[in-house]
Amino acid sequence: MIRVLFVCLGNICRSPMAEAVMRDLVEKRGLSAEIKIDSAGTSSWHIDEPPHKGTRAKLEEYKISTSGMKARQLRTSDVDFDYIVCMDASNVENTRNMLREDDNTKIIRFLDLTFHKKDVPDPWYTGDFQETYELCLDGCNALLERIMEARK
Ligand code: 4NP
Repeated sequence: MIRVLFVCLGNICRSPMAEAVMRDLVEKRGLSAEIKIDSAGTSSWHIDEPPHKGTRAKLEEYKISTSGMKARQLRTSDVDFDYIVCMDASNVENTRNMLREDDNTKIIRFLDLTFHKKDVPDPWYTGDFQETYELCLDGCNALLERIMEARK
Protein backbone atom coordinates (compact mmCIF):
# COMPACT_ATOMS: atom_id res chain seq x y z
CA MET A 1 0.00 0.00 0.00
CA ILE A 2 1.30 3.41 -1.03
CA ARG A 3 0.05 6.43 0.92
CA VAL A 4 -0.03 9.91 -0.60
CA LEU A 5 -0.75 13.14 1.31
CA PHE A 6 -1.30 16.46 -0.46
CA VAL A 7 -0.54 19.57 1.59
CA CYS A 8 -1.41 23.26 1.16
CA LEU A 9 -2.07 26.15 3.53
CA GLY A 10 -5.82 26.00 4.15
CA ASN A 11 -6.72 22.50 2.86
CA ILE A 12 -9.74 23.98 1.11
CA CYS A 13 -8.50 25.03 -2.38
CA ARG A 14 -5.40 23.34 -3.83
CA SER A 15 -4.72 20.16 -1.84
CA PRO A 16 -8.36 18.98 -1.93
CA MET A 17 -8.33 19.61 -5.70
CA ALA A 18 -5.21 17.43 -6.00
CA GLU A 19 -6.65 14.78 -3.66
CA ALA A 20 -9.90 14.48 -5.66
CA VAL A 21 -8.12 14.48 -9.05
CA MET A 22 -5.61 11.85 -7.87
CA ARG A 23 -8.35 9.65 -6.40
CA ASP A 24 -10.24 9.85 -9.69
CA LEU A 25 -7.13 8.85 -11.73
CA VAL A 26 -6.34 5.99 -9.33
CA GLU A 27 -9.94 4.71 -9.44
CA LYS A 28 -9.98 4.83 -13.25
CA ARG A 29 -6.81 2.73 -13.34
CA GLY A 30 -8.23 0.22 -10.85
CA LEU A 31 -5.56 1.00 -8.27
CA SER A 32 -7.77 2.15 -5.37
CA ALA A 33 -6.81 -0.80 -3.17
CA GLU A 34 -3.10 -0.05 -3.63
CA ILE A 35 -2.88 3.74 -3.39
CA LYS A 36 -4.48 5.69 -0.53
CA ILE A 37 -4.88 9.45 -0.81
CA ASP A 38 -5.49 12.18 1.76
CA SER A 39 -4.85 15.91 2.16
CA ALA A 40 -4.13 18.38 4.96
CA GLY A 41 -3.37 22.05 5.59
CA THR A 42 -0.43 23.50 7.50
CA SER A 43 -2.83 26.03 9.11
CA SER A 44 -5.79 25.36 11.43
CA TRP A 45 -7.91 28.06 9.77
CA HIS A 46 -10.50 25.94 7.96
CA ILE A 47 -10.65 22.72 9.98
CA ASP A 48 -13.79 20.66 9.23
CA GLU A 49 -14.83 22.88 6.30
CA PRO A 50 -15.66 21.30 2.91
CA PRO A 51 -13.52 22.27 -0.10
CA HIS A 52 -13.87 25.91 -1.28
CA LYS A 53 -16.86 26.45 -3.57
CA GLY A 54 -14.49 27.25 -6.46
CA THR A 55 -12.76 23.88 -6.03
CA ARG A 56 -16.11 22.10 -5.73
CA ALA A 57 -17.56 23.79 -8.81
CA LYS A 58 -14.48 23.01 -10.92
CA LEU A 59 -14.42 19.36 -9.87
CA GLU A 60 -18.15 19.04 -10.50
CA GLU A 61 -17.54 20.38 -14.02
CA TYR A 62 -15.15 17.44 -14.59
CA LYS A 63 -17.51 14.95 -12.85
CA ILE A 64 -15.09 14.36 -9.98
CA SER A 65 -16.59 13.75 -6.53
CA THR A 66 -15.77 15.77 -3.39
CA SER A 67 -18.27 13.90 -1.25
CA GLY A 68 -17.28 13.59 2.41
CA MET A 69 -14.16 15.74 2.10
CA LYS A 70 -13.38 18.16 4.92
CA ALA A 71 -10.32 20.12 5.92
CA ARG A 72 -7.91 18.97 8.59
CA GLN A 73 -4.57 20.22 9.86
CA LEU A 74 -1.25 18.46 9.27
CA ARG A 75 -0.22 16.36 12.31
CA THR A 76 3.07 14.76 13.35
CA SER A 77 1.86 11.22 12.52
CA ASP A 78 1.53 12.33 8.87
CA VAL A 79 5.26 11.68 8.60
CA ASP A 80 4.26 8.04 7.98
CA PHE A 81 2.89 8.86 4.50
CA ASP A 82 5.12 7.65 1.65
CA TYR A 83 4.69 10.81 -0.45
CA ILE A 84 3.96 14.20 1.15
CA VAL A 85 3.23 16.42 -1.81
CA CYS A 86 3.20 20.16 -1.12
CA MET A 87 1.59 22.79 -3.33
CA ASP A 88 4.27 25.46 -2.91
CA ALA A 89 7.70 26.15 -1.43
CA SER A 90 6.31 27.65 1.78
CA ASN A 91 4.17 24.53 2.30
CA VAL A 92 7.35 22.43 1.89
CA GLU A 93 9.18 24.50 4.49
CA ASN A 94 6.29 24.48 6.98
CA THR A 95 5.72 20.74 6.48
CA ARG A 96 9.39 19.94 7.10
CA ASN A 97 9.28 21.96 10.31
CA MET A 98 5.97 20.57 11.57
CA LEU A 99 6.93 16.95 10.85
CA ARG A 100 10.60 17.40 11.83
CA GLU A 101 11.49 15.57 8.64
CA ASP A 102 13.77 16.77 5.88
CA ASP A 103 13.77 13.73 3.59
CA ASN A 104 13.43 15.48 0.25
CA THR A 105 12.37 12.33 -1.57
CA LYS A 106 9.35 12.05 0.78
CA ILE A 107 8.43 15.74 1.12
CA ILE A 108 8.26 17.19 -2.38
CA ARG A 109 6.96 20.27 -4.16
CA PHE A 110 4.13 19.01 -6.40
CA LEU A 111 5.05 20.61 -9.72
CA ASP A 112 8.74 19.70 -9.40
CA LEU A 113 7.42 16.33 -10.69
CA THR A 114 6.46 18.12 -13.95
CA PHE A 115 8.02 20.42 -16.52
CA HIS A 116 6.30 23.37 -14.77
CA LYS A 117 8.74 23.28 -11.81
CA LYS A 118 6.93 26.02 -9.90
CA ASP A 119 4.48 26.61 -7.06
CA VAL A 120 0.78 25.93 -7.65
CA PRO A 121 -0.61 29.51 -7.57
CA ASP A 122 -3.20 29.88 -4.82
CA PRO A 123 -6.72 30.39 -6.24
CA TRP A 124 -7.75 31.82 -2.83
CA TYR A 125 -5.92 34.90 -4.16
CA THR A 126 -6.00 34.45 -7.96
CA GLY A 127 -9.59 33.18 -8.29
CA ASP A 128 -8.36 30.97 -11.16
CA PHE A 129 -9.60 27.47 -10.30
CA GLN A 130 -9.21 26.31 -13.92
CA GLU A 131 -5.46 26.87 -13.62
CA THR A 132 -5.46 24.96 -10.32
CA TYR A 133 -7.31 22.05 -11.91
CA GLU A 134 -5.00 21.85 -14.93
CA LEU A 135 -1.82 22.02 -12.85
CA CYS A 136 -3.19 19.42 -10.42
CA LEU A 137 -3.99 17.10 -13.33
CA ASP A 138 -0.44 17.44 -14.73
CA GLY A 139 1.02 16.92 -11.25
CA CYS A 140 -1.16 13.90 -10.46
CA ASN A 141 -0.32 12.18 -13.76
CA ALA A 142 3.39 12.71 -13.04
CA LEU A 143 3.01 11.49 -9.46
CA LEU A 144 1.20 8.35 -10.60
CA GLU A 145 4.05 7.68 -13.07
CA ARG A 146 6.57 8.16 -10.26
CA ILE A 147 4.68 5.76 -7.97
CA MET A 148 4.30 3.10 -10.67
CA GLU A 149 7.99 3.42 -11.57
CA ALA A 150 9.02 3.01 -7.90
CA ARG A 151 6.84 -0.12 -7.50
CA LYS A 152 8.63 -2.00 -10.28
P1 4NP B 1 -5.29 26.68 -0.01
O1 4NP B 1 -5.78 28.20 -0.16
O2 4NP B 1 -4.02 26.73 0.82
O3 4NP B 1 -5.03 26.26 -1.41
O4 4NP B 1 -6.41 25.93 0.66
C1 4NP B 1 -6.04 29.07 0.91
C2 4NP B 1 -7.18 28.93 1.65
C3 4NP B 1 -7.44 29.83 2.66
C4 4NP B 1 -6.54 30.85 2.93
C5 4NP B 1 -5.38 30.98 2.18
C6 4NP B 1 -5.13 30.09 1.18
N1 4NP B 1 -6.83 31.79 3.97
O5 4NP B 1 -6.09 32.80 4.07
O6 4NP B 1 -7.79 31.57 4.74
